[in-house]
Amino acid sequence: MKHLLKMLDLSTEEIIEILDLADQLKYELKHGIPHPHLKGKSLGMIFQKASTRTRVSFETGMYQLGGHPLFLSANDLQIGRGEPVQDTARVLSRYLDGIMIRTFEQKEVEDLAEYGSIPIINGLTDFCHPCQILADLMTIREFKTDFAGLKMCFIGDGNNMANSLIVGCLKVGMAVSIACPDDYQPDKEVLDFAVQYGDKFQMTNQPLEAAKDADVVITDVWASMGQEGEAEKRRKAFHGYQINDDVMAQAHADAMVLHCLPAHREEEITTKVFEAHANEIFEEAENRLHAQKAVMVKLMA
Ligand code: CP
Ligand code: NVA
Repeated sequence: MKHLLKMLDLSTEEIIEILDLADQLKYELKHGIPHPHLKGKSLGMIFQKASTRTRVSFETGMYQLGGHPLFLSANDLQIGRGEPVQDTARVLSRYLDGIMIRTFEQKEVEDLAEYGSIPIINGLTDFCHPCQILADLMTIREFKTDFAGLKMCFIGDGNNMANSLIVGCLKVGMAVSIACPDDYQPDKEVLDFAVQYGDKFQMTNQPLEAAKDADVVITDVWASMGQEGEAEKRRKAFHGYQINDDVMAQAHADAMVLHCLPAHREEEITTKVFEAHANEIFEEAENRLHAQKAVMVKLMA
């Protein structure tokens, strides 16, 4: 494993290795056991979009690993004034030991990896959000012990979260069901991948049908970063695609609820369901730190 660009690139074994290391790093942090695996190393963090969790967890995680994180706002970099990503990659490779990038196009992340010579970590693109899904899988395993026999249901926009969850959950052996409006389905590349899992993958436009017997119910915002101009149109399109009591009544009684955050209460999830599952959702947010530290150790140590 040289980079973390998308879940499609990871084998099941690589995912499990990252989760195992993340569990260990979480244990060590909680017990005051130092783990300076990246002493003397630097991580550049390029942000073309806003972030709370990704920025703070990467920055703190790098510090906890003994390394040095650099926050690089795209507005301040020459990349924001049109310097090609190919040149940026080759320059930054001479200063840094790794780059985390949050941007719009997946191609920009793939180009950084192609032209640079250091590990590239995708901190979210319009196509996928692998760091988030690794934290989600870590949280699911923490609460449910094992992936075997579990069903994950995602309701809402077939966006970067849906794309990554479908791939990640199928790869670790879970069944997956997706409910999204017909015009907002996941990416074709992801659907083509999912088809090979036969009836372990289901897609419908009926949220109640998708939630039936689910062990984990997940949603995400209806308008992602960069889609703010379409917010009203999307609010109409996603009417009915909300995680609420009716949806939860279809799921198993002990089903978990996850949300990558930020959440819009009373849009994609009711306040009641959100608060009833706040312990799971905020553990998920915490696990971003541990899962990403594991990724950085695997790629950069
Ligand atoms: N879930 C997530 O990636 O949060 P941020 O946008 O705050 O980084
Ligand atoms: N789908 C959301 C996820 C935010 C973490 C977005 O891209 O804005």
